[in-house]
Formats: sequence, structure tokens, C-alpha cells
Amino acid sequence: MNDDAYEGARLDKDDVVLKTTGLEKAFGGLVATDDVSIEVERGTITGMIGPNGAGKSTLFNLISGFYENDAGHVTVNGEDVTDLEPHERARKGLVRTFQTPRRLEGMSVREAMLVGPGPQKGESIFSLFFAGSDVTEEERANIEQTRELLERFEIGHLIDQPSTDLSGGQMKLVELARAFTTNPDILLLDEPVAGVNPTLANDIKRFIRELNEEGQTFLIIEHDMPFIMDLADPIIVLDQGKVLMEGSPDEVRSDDRVIEAYLGGAGP
Ligand SMILES: Nc1ncnc2c1ncn2[C@@H]1O[C@H](COP(=O)(O)OP(=O)(O)OP(=O)(O)O)[C@@H](O)[C@H]1O
Ligand SMILES: [Mg+2]
Repeated sequence: MNDDAYEGARLDKDDVVLKTTGLEKAFGGLVATDDVSIEVERGTITGMIGPNGAGKSTLFNLISGFYENDAGHVTVNGEDVTDLEPHERARKGLVRTFQTPRRLEGMSVREAMLVGPGPQKGESIFSLFFAGSDVTEEERANIEQTRELLERFEIGHLIDQPSTDLSGGQMKLVELARAFTTNPDILLLDEPVAGVNPTLANDIKRFIRELNEEGQTFLIIEHDMPFIMDLADPIIVLDQGKVLMEGSPDEVRSDDRVIEAYLGGAGP
């Protein structure tokens, strides 16, 4: 599949938390993901950029198990998770957020947090809402964790708000907080600051950086170039379903192929 101009991702990393090998996905005749092999090193904030339609979200959907792949493999901490459902991958340490948060209708922020990004070890969590006073120690710990996580993202005051009353930016923060309820080894964020005001985007940048300093690994898709160039290293560039290159923000910024990919748009 590789041609001469195809340099691809760096595949010689030491401590790899997430790896894809030869991932493929076609929608009818359109190859959205074309032989994608990447590695994300533990402890990094790895960025992912590329023009509209390059296949970034499709790749996230394949990695997280929301789409079935046509070929290839996904491993987390060296374990093949290709055949696992999204919630099973979450248990293995791989969690993703959505650009448009889901599964929140009819729930307060507290309830949305307790459901988490997918079913957890303590699946009895629903008994919280229905079983009245009979709260187990584990459930008590979950409630405490919810408080702490919301405080961490400076939205503790929203705990009893109906999710439907939140602003777009607040939803982004709740989504981020929810992702941490399962202690992910790697967190995939799909455009975390799209449509978010600059103040909140700066807050989100600060939270991501702090969490990373504590050891959290991230893989982040973002169109906001100043944001991702400031935050991520390395950055993987996708174009037309393939990995165009991987490099430092400076390397990516000055690479002719990257500039061409963005300028080329959808033209012939
Ligand atoms: N469920 C689907 N059915 C059919 N085609 C799809 C589907 N999902 C994605 N595609 C197509 O696959 C290609 C890659 O789309 P994808 O959403 O992954 O791009 P992207 O890099 O995330 O773009 P953007 O930056 O605009 O979010 C596009 O041509 C898109 O139309
Ligand atoms: Mg996308």
C-alpha cells in the first residue's frame, strides 16, 4: 500500500500504550482509513490533524470500537482489543470523548457522571437511583469520585443541574470529567475545543496539561492549530485516509506535504 511519498508514523517507540496496525475502513467505494499504523507513547499528548474528511474521526471510531474495521488491529498496552466492544475497550483503559456528548438526556450531571463513559466494574450503579437508602460502600466511593472530578474541572456547582440545561462548553467539561471515571490509560479527544469560547478553551488546555503532567496519555484531534501546536508533541498528520507524516509541531508546520494537503483541499 505504501508509495514513495508515504513516510507514515513513527513506529519505533519504547513504551506504547496504543497501537494500530494496518487499519482499513471503506464506506462503499470511499476508503476512509487506508492502512493506518500508528503508535502512541505513554505519557505523551499526541496530536492528530488533517484536512476535513481526512479520516480522523473514522480512525477514532475504529480505535474505540464504534466502527468495525475491514482489516488491521488495535492493541492497548500490548493486548489485542480489535474484537472487543467499546465498553470492553474502556475497561482495558481506552476511553474516547465525542464531539457531541451523548447519553445525557434526562440525567443530572451527577447521574451522567455515575454512568461514566461505559459500564464499569460497579454496574450496580443504577441501584443508586432505584434502591433508595441501600447504598454500598463502592457506590459511596463513586459519588465521592464524582464530586472530586467535577471540582477538578471547576464545575462542582453543576452537580445537580439537568444535563440538558448545560451550555456547550459546560457539556465539554462534563464529558471530559466523565471520561476519567474509569481511570483511562489513554484518552482520545475528538475536537475538545471546537465551538468553545477562548477562555474555556484555555481552561481545557490547562486541565489537559495538568493531567498530562500527572502521567495521563492523550490522543487529541483538533482543527484549532494554535491550540494543538502548543499542547501536543508529536503530531500525526492524516490526509485522504493515510498517515502523511508524524513529527514535532515545528516539523509539521514547516513540512511542504502538510501545507499542500491543507491548501489542496478537495481539488483534483
Ligand atoms: N458513517 C459513514 N458513512 C459513510 N461515509 C462516512 C462515514 N463516516 C465518515 N465517512 C466518510 O469518510 C471520510 C472521512 O470522514 P471523517 O469524518 O473520518 O473525516 P475527519 O478527518 O474527521 O473530518 P473533519 O475534520 O471534517 O471532522 C469522509 O469522506 C466522510 O464522508
Ligand atoms: Mg472529524
